Amino acid sequence: MATSRGHFSSRLGFILAAAGSAVGLGNIWKFPFEVGDGGGAAFVVMYLVFCFLLCFPVMTAEIAIGRRTQRNAVGAFKVLNKPRWAFIGFMGIAAGLLILSFYNVVAGWAFGYVIEMLMGNFEIGTQFGDYIKDWLKIGLYGLVFMGVTAFIVSHGIQAGIERAAKILMPSLIMLMVALSAYAMTLDGAMAGIEFYLVPDFSKINGQVVYSALGQAFFSLSLGMGALITYGSYLNKDQNIVQAAAFITLMDVGIAFLAGLMLFPFVFSQGLEPTGGAGLIFVTLPGVFSDLGPNIGVIVGTLFFTLLTFAALTSTVSLLEVPVAYVVDEHKVPRKRAVWLTATFIFLIGVPSLLSNGASSILTNFIDIIGLAREGATDNSFMTFVGWIANDTFLPFGGMMISIFAAHIWKKENLSAELSLGNENYAGSFVETFINFSISYLAPFVLSMIFVLTVLSKFFAIDLL
Ligand code: PHE
Repeated sequence: MATSRGHFSSRLGFILAAAGSAVGLGNIWKFPFEVGDGGGAAFVVMYLVFCFLLCFPVMTAEIAIGRRTQRNAVGAFKVLNKPRWAFIGFMGIAAGLLILSFYNVVAGWAFGYVIEMLMGNFEIGTQFGDYIKDWLKIGLYGLVFMGVTAFIVSHGIQAGIERAAKILMPSLIMLMVALSAYAMTLDGAMAGIEFYLVPDFSKINGQVVYSALGQAFFSLSLGMGALITYGSYLNKDQNIVQAAAFITLMDVGIAFLAGLMLFPFVFSQGLEPTGGAGLIFVTLPGVFSDLGPNIGVIVGTLFFTLLTFAALTSTVSLLEVPVAYVVDEHKVPRKRAVWLTATFIFLIGVPSLLSNGASSILTNFIDIIGLAREGATDNSFMTFVGWIANDTFLPFGGMMISIFAAHIWKKENLSAELSLGNENYAGSFVETFINFSISYLAPFVLSMIFVLTVLSKFFAIDLL
């Protein structure tokens, strides 16, 4: 079939776009607070181990499936003559829709903070509860954010996704390097670095391992076909293994930088790093305010701008997954597919938007359906959607993709695809490692994670 599918213009374009998908709120918002809750450096070590042993191989498999088939997350399985496995793609699309529906709400918070910081409103940290409750305002920010995401995706691969990544990713990296260098000059910064980088292995327990793996998976955008989709726009002469290594390194590097920036800020003001989800939105504005009004405005505005940029390249990839499906499989013109899908996702995000104080039913949703855990402070509908999409669908999808690549599509075919653009692949150590990981390690570990999640979240049976 002659399709005029878009393609990335270069390897750099692909790497930046895929790294843009990976680098997001997960790295800058979630990673530091997971480190804070998970006992610091011990969590970081577990996270690194998972990224390289498990996530990197799964990533190469996803990209290879996409490039081999030149198709979206659902179509890819059909092209490989395994239409029954297309359910993995449908689950991926469902995960993408759900994740984007609430991710966009949080991205809206970050975008709104750029405006608050610009106006020098450092009090916003203490008013965070009221801020996220104000559904009209947050809804408007979310609408703008979704609009910009859709605008980028509507311009297609090269003129939209690739171009945006080429502007946003370098800006993001520059801002982060500058801010972390500045943070380290503050008094007391070293206490933060120590907490972050000197591991206390006695802090590793089942719970830490579990959240480190979940975080690694979410952060690398795995398990929902985002990289199948992006891989489908990659040219055959590119080295996938090398590209995946770069993407993993960039994602890990940026999460790492986020910690290097955040913990010195937090410790320099004598604050606790265990602020949970509020670490960035509640604690940081106070830190910025203590830097003095002028510097505070600059640092605060830059920080939330970089958070917004990071979120944007991720929302773009989340939207591209369902859009590619509609465009490929149902032959809907891209622009129409984009605006319809974005509107739909925005609408299914409304309950999440209302679940941070505006509607008491939605705010206490998890409690109302009887699944609240003791001592849990966040029982919102938004968190519940995260349980389903991030915590359940992604590991399940990742497990299925690994099993599919290794045992159904078969390792020989995977190796053949990975050898294109990489003559030395066959017979290399990397090949043995990737094959071992996706054949045994990833299916095993991911199925454990899946079972543990379902038991603990939906049946209140905590084995960890
Ligand atoms: N990886 C993104 C982040 O860290 C989130 C994401 C997950 C994006 C899955 C696409 C697919 O924020």
